[in-house]
Amino acid sequence: MSEELLQQVQQLRQQLEVVEHRLAESFLQMVELLGVLLTAVEWFYEGSHARFVSRKAAEIAQRMGCSETEIVEIQLAGLLHDIGKVGCPETLLQKFPAEMNAEERRLYERHPEIGWYILSRHSGLQGVAELVLQHHERLDGSGFPNHLRGRQIRLGAAIIAVVDTFHNALYKRRRDRRFLHDVAPEPATVYQQRYLAALRHLEEKAGTLYDPLVVRTFVELMEEERQQLGMRLQRSVPVNQLRPGMVLAESYYTSYGLLIIAQGEPVTPGIVPTLVRFAELGEIPRKLRVWV
Ligand SMILES: [Fe+2]
Ligand SMILES: [Fe+2]
Repeated sequence: MSEELLQQVQQLRQQLEVVEHRLAESFLQMVELLGVLLTAVEWFYEGSHARFVSRKAAEIAQRMGCSETEIVEIQLAGLLHDIGKVGCPETLLQKFPAEMNAEERRLYERHPEIGWYILSRHSGLQGVAELVLQHHERLDGSGFPNHLRGRQIRLGAAIIAVVDTFHNALYKRRRDRRFLHDVAPEPATVYQQRYLAALRHLEEKAGTLYDPLVVRTFVELMEEERQQLGMRLQRSVPVNQLRPGMVLAESYYTSYGLLIIAQGEPVTPGIVPTLVRFAELGEIPRKLRVWV
């Protein structure tokens, strides 16, 4: 190859790298944008449901020896798993499935397919869309929409199912319309009881509803995390009653996805008025989860 030709090839390669980098960046920005859109359906959670599911699902996948590509796919599917709920009426979003009437249940059960439909429009999200479609399938065929069984369910979807169930049991709350001064802190023992009950439910249903290996990995992960935090108790405290010495147990974001305060940050006297303002604007919950 002539010197000139070599130079041209080299130049083209560099240009291609720039294009690839921009494409990857634009892809991630698009996913982040969808994640922000999702905060619209997260009103009824203390803390971000999508981000919790995404983070924990990826950690389980890593422990179970999934490949780098699979982990990224699971992380994205965890973030976007409930995107099909966008457009669902508020009255439906705040209910647990057991509280829904037949018509509401029919609507609710469409969200995995709607999510799949939205995400499968993008050629780079085919695998993610499939995991989203399957995240309510259960091992014994009792899930929806396609009543898949056992190994018909992809591992990523089985992982998301476990984390999703856990987070719903622990953090889904009715929308609290009361003013801050009427909101009482929740006793630390209530959180602990709910935490243990959620893990017990997963362990009891491992092998019938949930993948036993996924449940085992998740329980190990959660217990290790609890021990690392020195067995400190977690409580739900109204923002105006936050005191120095407490540490945030969740990260909180504005409705447009900006981080306000991160998990692990200590409460300082200066941050409290800001948090109260965000809570009054409805940007963050009126009660935040803290380690005390
Ligand atoms: Fe869901
Ligand atoms: Fe969910």
